[in-house]
This record gives sequence, C-alpha cells and structure tokens, in this order.
Amino acid sequence: MIFTSLSPNTESDDVWRAAGLLFQPWMWRKGKYVGQIERIFCDYLHIPYAFAFQSGRNALYALLQAQNLHPDDEVLLQAYTCVAVPEPVLWVGAKPVYVDVLADYTMDPADLKKRITSKSKVLIIQHTFGNAAHLEELLKIAQEHHLFVIEDCAHALGGIYNGKLLGTFGDASFFSFGRDKVISSVFGGMLMVKDEKLAQKVVEVRKHFKIPSLWYVKQQLLHPLILSVSKKTYTFSSLGKVILELSRRLHLISKAVESNELSGGKPSFVGLLFPNALAYLALYQFKKLDRYNAHRRKIAVIYNEYFLHAHPLQSIYLRYTIQVREPRKLIQIARSHGIELGDWYQQAIAPRNVEYKKVHYDPTVYMQAESLARKSINLPTHIGISEADARFVARIAKDHAD
Ligand SMILES: Cc1ncc(COP(=O)(O)O)c(C=O)c1O
Repeated sequence: MIFTSLSPNTESDDVWRAAGLLFQPWMWRKGKYVGQIERIFCDYLHIPYAFAFQSGRNALYALLQAQNLHPDDEVLLQAYTCVAVPEPVLWVGAKPVYVDVLADYTMDPADLKKRITSKSKVLIIQHTFGNAAHLEELLKIAQEHHLFVIEDCAHALGGIYNGKLLGTFGDASFFSFGRDKVISSVFGGMLMVKDEKLAQKVVEVRKHFKIPSLWYVKQQLLHPLILSVSKKTYTFSSLGKVILELSRRLHLISKAVESNELSGGKPSFVGLLFPNALAYLALYQFKKLDRYNAHRRKIAVIYNEYFLHAHPLQSIYLRYTIQVREPRKLIQIARSHGIELGDWYQQAIAPRNVEYKKVHYDPTVYMQAESLARKSINLPTHIGISEADARFVARIAKDHAD
C-alpha cells in the first residue's frame, strides 16, 4: 500500500525511539532536549530567539498574544490554507482577512494590495507545500504598509528563496513538526523571533503555557507504534483501518485537528509547551532533514516528467499537488490500485466541514483559491516512496487526471 498521509516520515528507527521512551517516563515532560532543539534552530536559521511549543498553532498563538493585537486589528493570510492558521488569530480576538492565491498555491501580491486597510497589522506569508511564496513583492508591500511579517513555514523547513532559508525573511516565523510535516514528532512547533523586545514579550506569554501531562505524552509516544502496525496490516486486510479507528476512539492516539476547531474553537492542546520526549524525537528527525528534502526533490523530478512542473523549481515538495477534474473519483481509482492519495486543501480552508462564517471566510470572493481547491490532489513525495512507486502513482494519476 502506498500512503501520502499517516505519519509518512516515521521510519523504523523512529518507531524504536518512541518505543524506548515509553519505558522512561521521567524523560517525558521536562529535560534538556527542548533547549537543545531551540538552540539548533537558532544556529540553523541564524535567528537569535527560538521558542518550542506543542504545535505550530501554539507557536503562532503565543506570537500573536505577544503582539497585543486589538479586537479590530486585521491579520492578513492566504485562502487555500488549513483552519489551524486563522484559528490563533481568532483566539486572540483579532480578525483574519484572507488573500487570494496564485496558481503556485502561494499568496497573490496583487490581491494582497486590495485587502490591506488601515486596520491591517500583521501579514502571514505561507509557503504552501514547500513552495516559496513571492517574497520580494510581498515584503515590499508589507514594508510600505508597516505590516509585521510572519512566515508560516509549517510546510517549508529547509526550503530556499534567493539562496536563503525560508523562515529568515519575516520579522518572525514558525514551523511545525506535526505528523504529516517536513519532519515529525507527532505534534510540535517552533517560533523564531528576531527582535529582542518582542522575544521578551514571548517569554512573558510563554509563562502561562503548561508542560503537557504524562497521559498526553504517552498518547503521542504510542502514535508511531500504532501507526506502524496499522499501516503494515492495511495492505492485506481492513484490519489496519480497524486498528486505527479503534485507537482514535479509545483516545490511544490523538487527532491532528479536533472537531471544535472546525468552527475556530480551541482544541484541548491550546496553551501547551513542547514536552521533552517529543523534542527528543524531533531532534532525531532534524538530523534526517536534508536526506528527506533531497528525496522529496528526487521524487518530484519524476512527477515533473508527467505533470510538466506543477510546482516551482525551488520547492521542497512536501506534497506534490496537481489539478485534476474529479479529485474524489481519482482518490477512489487510486485506492483500488493500493494508493492513498492526499486530499489537503480540497476546501480553500481545510479540512472538510470548516464553518466558513465562523472563520470569517467568504467562498464567493476568492476565485483562484476556490478553483484550485476544487481540483487539488496531492501525490506523495516522502522518504517511504521509491522511484518505482512514484512512477506507478504518476501513471495512475495521469491516466485519470482529465
Ligand atoms: C499551512 C499550515 N500552517 C500552520 C499549520 C499548523 O501547524 P500545527 O499542526 O503544528 O499546529 C498547519 C498544519 O496544520 C498548516 O498546514
């Protein structure tokens, strides 16, 4: 079975690491690894301040809190995104204002100009699927309007723009170590801040965040184990699916998005720090970053033969997204061939069933985002995909794309 989702970065050595940690509960909550990964990020990006959190959502939440936004303040972000991005904006009481995208899934600078008002304070620039956004134009507009720029690098750790790492262009940036991201520790996020005064404010805000409970950490450590058993049994029976569903229902494993988030609500993990055990897993994954991204690029070269460079060349191709006429039908066809394709952003604010009104999104306004979302399918690029797998996936997708 070929998967696009379901913790695709987790290799057998990562599973063994998580399993080993299960027997060392004294390491779960506090320890030296959180500080270690923060320092590694400072060195890697050459940014002075790093703050680890339980997720990208919490990283963005802390940053927006540190900025003392007022209820009327507007935060600009792109349509064609995950509800996880507007959520923290709503949690601090500010207003998300969406901007349409270009065909490469990143923010359209011309549309940004139209959405700016006297209330605009912050601009979030998202590097969707690892495609670098049009930073030169976007940063120029931000500068003209005195906007604070946050780079959303949830998909883009290790990505490059004009020879510089993504995450180094804005006033601040954040990363995600979620289960389907560039590197994974089931949950995790990192906030990077350049300005000392702002960093001090984040320190104050972070004092109100808590270290997750032992139960919470155990749940995340079980995740790689359960997923690996489930994926192995998926291939020859529906047992894998049953294991996965049962584990979710019994709360043995966590959900990436909780149901109240669909209406912009706060999930149970809001206000949590990065626990030591997950920092340990993320540190180990960070050592694999270059290998993972090189592999993604290699797989994308194969897809490019079939889909005529569907992504810009600088991408790290977290997922290789193509446009097909009937994405739902293609998912079914691929499934019959043993392939689970990705369905990220088949709604302009994903996942399915997000209550658009509650997150201030109007689907009649954002034509390009809506049109792309209707036709999006993601092909897998992760480390578990061989070149032969990629050709097989590409052939099936190509045959049924139109
Ligand atoms: C573009 C984007 N930004 C931010 C996030 C939030 O990251 P996290 O899941 O770590 O909260 C996600 C993922 O959910 C995402 O896809």
